[in-house]
Amino acid sequence: MTRFRTLDDLGDVTGKVALVRVDLNLPMQDGAVTDDTRVRAAVPTIVELADKGAKVLLLAHFGRPKGERVSTQSLSMVVAEVQKVLGREVMFVPEIAGPVVAQAVGILGNGDVAILENTRFWKGEEANDPELAKAIAANGDFYVNDAFSAAHRAHATTEGLAHVLPAYAGRSMEAELTALDKALGNPVKPVAAVVGGAKVSSKLDVLKHLVTQVDHLIIGGGMANTFLAAGGIDVGKSLCEHDLAATAEEILDNADKAGCTVHLPYDVVVSKEFAANPPSLRECNVHEVAADEMILDVGASAVEALADVLKTCRTLVWNGPLGAFETEPFDKATVALARTAAALTREGSLVSVAGGGDTVAALNHAGAASDFTYISTAGGAFLEWMEGKELPGVKALEI
Ligand code: 3PG
Repeated sequence: MTRFRTLDDLGDVTGKVALVRVDLNLPMQDGAVTDDTRVRAAVPTIVELADKGAKVLLLAHFGRPKGERVSTQSLSMVVAEVQKVLGREVMFVPEIAGPVVAQAVGILGNGDVAILENTRFWKGEEANDPELAKAIAANGDFYVNDAFSAAHRAHATTEGLAHVLPAYAGRSMEAELTALDKALGNPVKPVAAVVGGAKVSSKLDVLKHLVTQVDHLIIGGGMANTFLAAGGIDVGKSLCEHDLAATAEEILDNADKAGCTVHLPYDVVVSKEFAANPPSLRECNVHEVAADEMILDVGASAVEALADVLKTCRTLVWNGPLGAFETEPFDKATVALARTAAALTREGSLVSVAGGGDTVAALNHAGAASDFTYISTAGGAFLEWMEGKELPGVKALEI
């Protein structure tokens, strides 16, 4: 596991300026934040630093404005939400470097918090321009990275700053790295992975890496159809990437060589149309899917068998739903397996770690999220971690 400094390694920070990278790339609809998970994740670090007397400057990106000031992507829009979740007043500073920030630092008292403007309004952010990192650093005393979910980006505020200021992992980053290490770095065996979602093509590298790391790989969602079809099963009208048959076979071969058991559904829920509770809904063996039917979920007895697999495992890493869970009743398999994982975790027999946007929504829908050992706030970064890639934002914290 990467060795990094944490807030425990900070000396007296009274009156010092902390540049804290957080992830405020929040889902919004009609100007309102629809999910405050990432704000809540940042709170422990902000509060700890503020309560120790530091002046806390939050750095974050929002959207992909590509180096331009786009008024609809100003971080001023999330200030109210951060104030609400934090329960403290937060100043907004419309710059990230230079005299305006210096002036703000002069106004802030010890323990005060400010949000700087969207870092991606400056081209140097995504270019990881060392000059921008130096200019930002000029107004700070130390750097804290608390944005694991942006750590797959080598940008000035996610990577560059760690080279110009003393760098520390924030509490959320620390919790992520510790949990992820327990899941795949140094897991208690046997380890199971659940990988679902629509397409094999979007998770090729995840699957290739996981078969070398885990004892059981449970494949669900549309991507399971590609594997079934590669094995000669007629999947009817199901979502399927037929052109990836050879790749799917290669993954299965590699799994075999690595001693990883791949679990594909042997019974499935099918329908002629994709709609909520369709009249043509039925459950059948994978060999009985008609030409005009599509597979939309894993069947009940296959889910039971998967639950039995989880009962033999000590560690679980989960990314992606097993079926088209947003439309009832195609949420059943995901809900049932998530609840089994939650129960095993509660009993203390399983360490369960999950991540990725859809996954968290699915586990929340199942009422299982709070029982999981750890739910990552990350989307893309979680996937890159599951691919076995080194994340630049994490690497830069290494000591
Ligand atoms: C995310 O929302 O996953 C992170 O904030 C990274 O955002 P990005 O994909 O625009 O780099």
